[in-house]
Amino acid sequence: MRLSLRFLLPLLLVVGLFAYAAVPLADMLMLRWFVRDLDTRSTLIASAVSEPLSGLVLTGSTPRIEQFFRRLTQDERLYAVGLCVTGRATPIATAEFPSDIACSSLAAQAGTAKAIIRTAHGMMHLSVAPVDAGDAAPAQLAILHDMSYVERRSEETRRYLFVFFAVLAFLVALITVVVAQLSWRGWVNGLRALLRGEGLVRPASPGLATPELRPIAGDVRELVRELEERYRPRDEGQLAWSAASLKSILGREPGGGDVIVVSNREPYIHVKTDDGVRVQHPASGLVTALEPVMRACAGTWIAHGSGDADRETADRRGRLDVPPGESAYRLRRIWLTADEETGYYSGFANEGLWPLCHIAHVRPTFRSSEFAHYRAVNAKFADAVVDEARTDAPIVLVQDYHFALLPRMIRERLPNATVVTFWHIPWPNPEAFSICPWRAELLDGLLGSSILGFHTQFHCNNFLDTVDRLLEARVDRESFEVNVAGHATAVRRYPISIAWPPEPLARQRGVGDARAAVRRRLGLPDDVRLGIGVDRLDYTKGIVERFHAVDRLLATHPEWVGRFTFVQIAAPSRGMIADYRDYAARARSLADEINARHAGRGAPPILLLVEHHEADSVYEHYRAADLCFVSSLHDGMNLVAKEFVSARDDERGVLVLSQFAGASRELPEALVVNPYDADQCAVALHRALTMPGDEQRDRMRLMRGLLREFNVYRWAGRMLMDAASMRQRRRLRRRARESELSA
Ligand code: F6P
Repeated sequence: MRLSLRFLLPLLLVVGLFAYAAVPLADMLMLRWFVRDLDTRSTLIASAVSEPLSGLVLTGSTPRIEQFFRRLTQDERLYAVGLCVTGRATPIATAEFPSDIACSSLAAQAGTAKAIIRTAHGMMHLSVAPVDAGDAAPAQLAILHDMSYVERRSEETRRYLFVFFAVLAFLVALITVVVAQLSWRGWVNGLRALLRGEGLVRPASPGLATPELRPIAGDVRELVRELEERYRPRDEGQLAWSAASLKSILGREPGGGDVIVVSNREPYIHVKTDDGVRVQHPASGLVTALEPVMRACAGTWIAHGSGDADRETADRRGRLDVPPGESAYRLRRIWLTADEETGYYSGFANEGLWPLCHIAHVRPTFRSSEFAHYRAVNAKFADAVVDEARTDAPIVLVQDYHFALLPRMIRERLPNATVVTFWHIPWPNPEAFSICPWRAELLDGLLGSSILGFHTQFHCNNFLDTVDRLLEARVDRESFEVNVAGHATAVRRYPISIAWPPEPLARQRGVGDARAAVRRRLGLPDDVRLGIGVDRLDYTKGIVERFHAVDRLLATHPEWVGRFTFVQIAAPSRGMIADYRDYAARARSLADEINARHAGRGAPPILLLVEHHEADSVYEHYRAADLCFVSSLHDGMNLVAKEFVSARDDERGVLVLSQFAGASRELPEALVVNPYDADQCAVALHRALTMPGDEQRDRMRLMRGLLREFNVYRWAGRMLMDAASMRQRRRLRRRARESELSA
């Protein structure tokens, strides 16, 4: 409204002034035209009547002259006619002829011909012309035209002009306001986009359609960058971490869009089924955490193409846009031979490093042929990183124990790259790690990273101790950096988390519906209490220990027999490794044994579902359960614990959590247990089943508050912010060196 008035008022003023000047001008011109018209008309009449009138004058008959005049004035515009002849003081005239016009005044006017006079009847056009009167002095013929119609027309014209200008003003104002509104809106949207950071991330982003704003975008971008630089240390803790804030952190980095993620497991696996090719989402905490980050970064994710329909769904170079149907980022699949997969993945990574780092009582096995494959596959992924990098300084996020050698390989090929490596599993103490025959090469490979991240401070400390003990390197415990041959690697703690709010939650029905649906599907009575466990079928997850705890609960609290069922969702995992097959068999037979022991009294104690469940189904189970039991024997973080809490927007349900999972450091409001202690776990299960609603709510609220704030965007964002500071410091050092050289 204010905007409209701002445009409208000056416009109306201008048009008003214009009308004010134009109307009298038009009036004057019209009068001139009419007078000229009457002049001509009078001249014509005078010359037309001159001869007959002259004859009548010569007869000297006044009545005949008057009669002649009456006929003449039948023309409606000819108002009156008069004739002054020698010897008369008043003219011989028609009745309308004004009595105040005397022959003396007509004689004075003779020769000047025409005038406009005002009479008692209004404005008149007076024309005086000589008429031959024989020997006597010529008579004077006065012709009076009524000019009232001129006034009428002038009035009409004025009215017409006024309406014309009013309509014109209105139309011009309307068009101006519409155009102004549209372009104002464009500006406002453009500015809004700028302030939201859209135009700041990519200078020519389509969000910033208004071309006039582009120069402003540059200035705002510069300003925002300066402000962020100034306030970043203070504000980081207060930042509400989301996909958008993550995007803007990347946007302010030169080349920030060049983000490459490397992991073994791919986020989308295409598999052949009887119903054709289907997309599968792997049961992987790593993928669950990185997927929303990649959606926000729109970079490239390089991973092993492990699905049997992966080749036919990618292009010649193994590339495809994902998520299917959304195209938020690019997936680059790497093809491995069967020998490579066995040696690098099953062998060195999962029979060597996995048990080495987890210390879960499964002996690590090291074979040199497998390490050779591990080295070769790391080199293959390094080629792909170089291939996918759009600049010489990409940000490469290397994931997990499958790629300990990769950071050094990238550093050698792309010295300006920022390599952030995240080790998703625990790091053991130096004694435990030192049994690996290739310990030095692995450590050196990791120290090619700019930043090396772990979930907990404990694992950071273990890593520094290991380097200190096993490598020639300068370990700075103050700054938590390791220096090898002039290259520094910062070792930092970044506890991984989940997206908030978690994506599958949006598709869930109410908790009551979930409880009813899950119980119906599992064939359990409506009133049975439900515990849930969700894991890969892996010996580090403590599934066997969990079953022992359930058995102990039923032994110590028989009132739960037939009234409590523990549902274990177990995704088949690493089935090519004997230790995993053995473990799966142990879990199955223990579940059968416990079920047999408590059979015949209602619902079974344990339901072991060894099958892959998609995220929506997993979330439905979380919502249907009274408790979730995470009993890892050793775990970097364990995102199941966090997912369960995030799924419970009803603030109910109890988390029973192993003290050996990294998550227990962040979620002390869970019932924290030692999974090796079956009695303690049974007590916790009973407590969970009998915990009052208020206490459940208080605990859930605290945990949910933490996850809301410490979500996966913060995990990625903090790594990227540290990487950005590092890049900035490097730029400053380079500039200082250059100015030293030029001095
Ligand atoms: O926990 C380590 C880890 O790499 C996770 O990041 C991931 O959830 C899991 O192992 C995946 O295992 P795999 O890819 O071997 O099935």
